[in-house]
Order: sequence, then structure tokens, then C-alpha cells
Amino acid sequence: MTAYPKTEALMQRGCEFLGTETAILCGAMSWVSERNLVSAISNAGGFGVIACGAMTPELLDAEIAATRAMTDKPFGVNLITMHPQLFDLIEVCAKHQVGHVVLAGGLPPKGSLDAIKQSGAKVIVFAPTLALAKKQFRAGADALVIEGSEAGGHIGPVATSVLAQEFLPELAADHLVFVAGGIGRGDMIASYLEMGAVGVQLGTRFACATESIAHPDFKQAFFRAKARDAEASVQLDPRLPVIPVRALKNKGTAEFTEKQREVGLLLDQGSVDMAEAQLRIEHFWAGALRRAVIDGDVENGSLMAGQSVGMVTREEPVAEIIATLMSECEAALARR
Ligand SMILES: Cc1cc2nc3c(=O)[nH]c(=O)nc-3n(C[C@H](O)[C@H](O)[C@H](O)COP(=O)(O)O)c2cc1C
Repeated sequence: MTAYPKTEALMQRGCEFLGTETAILCGAMSWVSERNLVSAISNAGGFGVIACGAMTPELLDAEIAATRAMTDKPFGVNLITMHPQLFDLIEVCAKHQVGHVVLAGGLPPKGSLDAIKQSGAKVIVFAPTLALAKKQFRAGADALVIEGSEAGGHIGPVATSVLAQEFLPELAADHLVFVAGGIGRGDMIASYLEMGAVGVQLGTRFACATESIAHPDFKQAFFRAKARDAEASVQLDPRLPVIPVRALKNKGTAEFTEKQREVGLLLDQGSVDMAEAQLRIEHFWAGALRRAVIDGDVENGSLMAGQSVGMVTREEPVAEIIATLMSECEAALARR
């Protein structure tokens, strides 16, 4: 008899797919999701995912090997689709026989899904619309993560609750769908599982775990923050595209608004051309997540965080976080 029979029954398809005890993924977080956090998540029965981010193939190679040395449980690798060396990174995953590759940051380029599948790995994708989700399943994707705008990091415009209502009734019977964005308690996991999700993905809730290498000042900023402090970046000028990112507001986010105003003005005056103006906006946040996570620069760095940050109040070991989520989920299901 397990401690979580109702939860495990609803997570069964997700667990079989991931090869885990619980169908809880820790979403890849650049700089945060490295060997220590990833192996801790997998060792605790969840599914850790290495954030490749802008890593070179050599760095990814070393990170996978180091993670393997810390866990014999399954874990995945998250690759950003616009990485210039995407296919080399896929080869590195294949060399290590990584079981699951997550493709994030845009639709997978031609041939990438097949390249991953040829190595025997499963492919997990994201999709902003139901039509694109169906298209990717037809193209061979094995599982989908739907991620709402409550999430930390790069976000789409639609809330998790709405995406769940749009995608799950259409896809859940025949496909594996995980839900992400704004999940801080097991009660919420119970609801998405009941709607047909096979599991969930959380980032913010795990970012400050004991095993996370994030700087103590980064963690303190999370512990102090409330849901409303995790704001999505706003585009001020229609000529200067801004990809929305949810992060804790700080000096950097205020200066970013100012920067957009300043560059827009330079454009009006004709002192910079469009390409230069867009580049100045694009470059503003270069290296900013690393500055926050690794250097602890909580004023100027990017403190990517989801709205569930208000439920992150102290440092806890990953195993405790997962146990809490599972028992909250089980209690919620038992109350039905
Ligand atoms: C600090 C931080 C960095 C992130 N970096 C990435 C990333 O590099 N690639 C990615 O696909 N998602 C990234 N995400 C999103 C997470 O993988 C996850 O999907 C998200 O955090 C889930 O929503 P939640 O924050 O509400 O739990 C990041 C999130 C955070 C909080």
C-alpha cells in the first residue's frame, strides 16, 4: 500500500513515460537546473531536466556526465530550438543515451524531432495553440507541456487555467500532457490530474531548494516576494519587440522600461536605425539571469520567477518539497 494511491493512479501514465515514481517534472531553469538540482529531483522520485540554455556541446557533454555520476535515475535535457548548434547538442544527448529531450523556445526546426527519435529518446514539446500541439503530435512528439502565463521565465499570453480547459479535453485521452505554470501546492496538481493531465511541471517552487546552487541572495529575494512581485515584462513601443519574461521586479526591470523609452526616442529622432534600436533592446538582458542566480546581483540581474513565488517561503530539500506536493494532492483527492 503506497502513501499516495489516488495520486499515483492518476499519474500512472506520466510515471511510465518518465520512468519515475512521481510524474512531477522540475522544468529546466537556465543556470539553476544543473547537476546538483537535477540529480536531487531525480533521486527524490521526480524528473529533473538539465537546462542547456546557451551551453556549448562540450559543456553539455560534461554536465550530462556529471549528472549521471550523481544519479542512476532518469533525467532529461532541455534544448532551446534556436540554439545555433542544436543538432550537435542532439548528438551529445544521443551519445549519452539521454532518455528524454525537451525542445523549448519555439517550434522544433525541420529534422530535429527525427534526429532525437533516431537516438531512441522521447521528445517533449511545448505548443502555444491547440492546432500546433496536434501538428507536433502528428510529427512524432511523445508528450506535451502546456505552460501558462503565471510561470517564471519566458511566457505566453494565456493563463494555465484557460490552456488546461482548451487542451486537456481535446488531447488527454490519446496523448500525454503535462501542465505547468503557477503550481505551488498539491491541491492544484490534483485538479489538473483530474482534468486528464498525466503529470505537472514546476520551476519556481524548486528554484530555491536546498540542493539548488542559486546564490543565497537570489533565494532570499524569492522568500520575500509575493505573487504580485513576479511581473511580466511589458513592450512599450510597437517597433521594438520584447519577448515577455516573468521575473521579480527590481532596479533592472525599472531600467528596462526606461531603456525602451530612451531607444524609442532615439528612433523618433533618427539618431539610430531600426536594426540598431532593436539590438539595444535585445542586448539589455544579456547575461542578466546568470548575474542574479550565480553572482547574487538581485538589483540588476534577472530574477525570473513565477507567480507561485509567494508560496516559496524557505529553503527546503527537494525530497521534502515533493513529499509535501504529493500529500497535498492525495489529501485533495481524498476529500472529493
Ligand atoms: C529562473 C527560471 C529560469 C527558467 N529557465 C528556463 C529555460 O532555460 N528553459 C525553459 O524551457 N524554461 C525555463 N523556465 C521555465 C521552467 O522550466 C518552468 O516551465 C516554469 O518555471 C514552470 O512554471 P512555474 O515557475 O510557475 O512553476 C525557467 C523558469 C525560472 C523560474
